[in-house]
Amino acid sequence: MKKIAVLTSGGDAPGMNAAVRAVARGALAKGWQVMGVRNGYAGLLADHFDPLQARNVGGIIQSGGTVLGSARCPEFAEPAGRKKALQNLGAHGVDALVVIGGNGSQSGSASLAREGFTVVGVPSTIDNDLYGNDVSIGCDTAINITLEAIDRLRTTASSHQRAFAVETMGRNCGYIAIMAGIAGGAEVIALPEHEITPAQVAERLRAAYQRGKTHALAVIAEGAKCGVHELMEYYGAHRKSIGFDLRVTRLGHVVRGGIPSAADRVLATRLGAAAVDTLAVGKRGVLAGIIKGDVVVTPLEEITGRTRPADASLLELARVMAI
Ligand code: F6P
Repeated sequence: MKKIAVLTSGGDAPGMNAAVRAVARGALAKGWQVMGVRNGYAGLLADHFDPLQARNVGGIIQSGGTVLGSARCPEFAEPAGRKKALQNLGAHGVDALVVIGGNGSQSGSASLAREGFTVVGVPSTIDNDLYGNDVSIGCDTAINITLEAIDRLRTTASSHQRAFAVETMGRNCGYIAIMAGIAGGAEVIALPEHEITPAQVAERLRAAYQRGKTHALAVIAEGAKCGVHELMEYYGAHRKSIGFDLRVTRLGHVVRGGIPSAADRVLATRLGAAAVDTLAVGKRGVLAGIIKGDVVVTPLEEITGRTRPADASLLELARVMAI
């Protein structure tokens, strides 16, 4: 191995920079050259490569987002797009690529691997929906941002005897919602992995009112079937029966911004370095993840098309704690 490239792809996630730093410094320490690719797969196609030295990745471990830039790149899903990307990698003399990103990005890695290029994936998505890995880079920070919002909303909810429905991101995975909901003492949590109707959510809010609570909080995952719109519609038609007044806060992309937590920085550093070590021992076409505390590599082929659901059994724990 002489020269590797690294890119960040898909939705940005706090800790991506720490992962870029770890890949670059881990590889430089082995005497390899490192190139940073701008804006994910789009930069591979547009031939946007820059050499990375140790100082180029200094002072970034604490910053959110990605200094390399990211993009969603539909052209890369086409064979012609990948051909162009492989030509550009070849023209720069790159032997291997490290892809830091989530599900869609690792499907792209799998395609490159299938076409014979040496690639290793690093799991990074706030959604934490990647198979072959327990916790992906960015989701701890996203949980903490959601939690901070919940704590703040509780203060005003309690002053006004209101209920709040807080929608957090996560695409089709309820991991952020369940973790932040439990940590924030939510009265009800709606996940994509678990059926719950607006009437059932409203009933739980009403029950909290009847138990004498001064406020109630519903945490709604972005991908839940009972979304905040459905809930507000139901509330419009049954306002009186809930007891509390209901307000909605959609956190949206706020959840993705911000300073990476210590846990995300350490995780990203471990995984970035693990990706380099994986290449050093000649493994390719794998995702370097952490399972039960240890670095484990899983073939990208096994990951493609699979997702890791949130643990809906934790809903019962949240329900008991909300009495
Ligand atoms: O995958 C990360 C994520 O933030 C999801 O939680 C969300 O559904 C999606 O990306 C938003 O995508 P975009 O930034 O392209 O609007």
